[in-house]
Amino acid sequence: MKRIALFASGSGSNAEKIAQYFANGTDVEITLVLTNNPKAGVIERSRRGFGCGLHVPVLTFDRAAFHESDRIIKILKNQQIDLIVLAGFMWLIPAGLVRAFPNQMVNIHPALLPRFGGKGMYGHHVHEAVVAAGETESGITIHYVNEHYDEGQVIFQARCPVSATDTPDDVARKVQALEHEHYPKIVETILRELS
Ligand code: GRF
Repeated sequence: MKRIALFASGSGSNAEKIAQYFANGTDVEITLVLTNNPKAGVIERSRRGFGCGLHVPVLTFDRAAFHESDRIIKILKNQQIDLIVLAGFMWLIPAGLVRAFPNQMVNIHPALLPRFGGKGMYGHHVHEAVVAAGETESGITIHYVNEHYDEGQVIFQARCPVSATDTPDDVARKVQALEHEHYPKIVETILRELS
């Protein structure tokens, strides 16, 4: 049995897809959802069983708990978490947490890193920058997490075309479809490779 902790700050649509993907299996458990945002949509999604009857406890924490104590690390270790999956989690991960889960923490970024990444490059800002730069393609990057925004080793990328008439909203829709299609499967592959 492998155990996943999902971190999300926003809507939580990726968290939901991952929960649904593993809901009927017996070898992967979504053990805990963690959020820094008491208003995050992921809390409501979890309360509704992620649309698949899967009820996962949600832990909400503040900046002090995250950055100035090892409370979160202790909880994750106590729960014997094998993989931390960031799904729209907005805070930089403290070095202590990265060190506690070496190669056991992954993130998804809504563009083709190393382009359109780094501090401030999140959500709509990414798709606006892609359109403003006249890109002909965008996509997703799934990567390991280190102490710097969007700089960990790349695990997987998938691409979508961007046409000259696409708005940032159009790009967002295409990218989100790629995220929902691929993130659960790549998480499964990573779990399989964990010794
Ligand atoms: C996704 O676009 C993801 O790539 C980014 O944040 C967004 C989260 O969306 N890191 P959701 O909360 O999963 O709907």
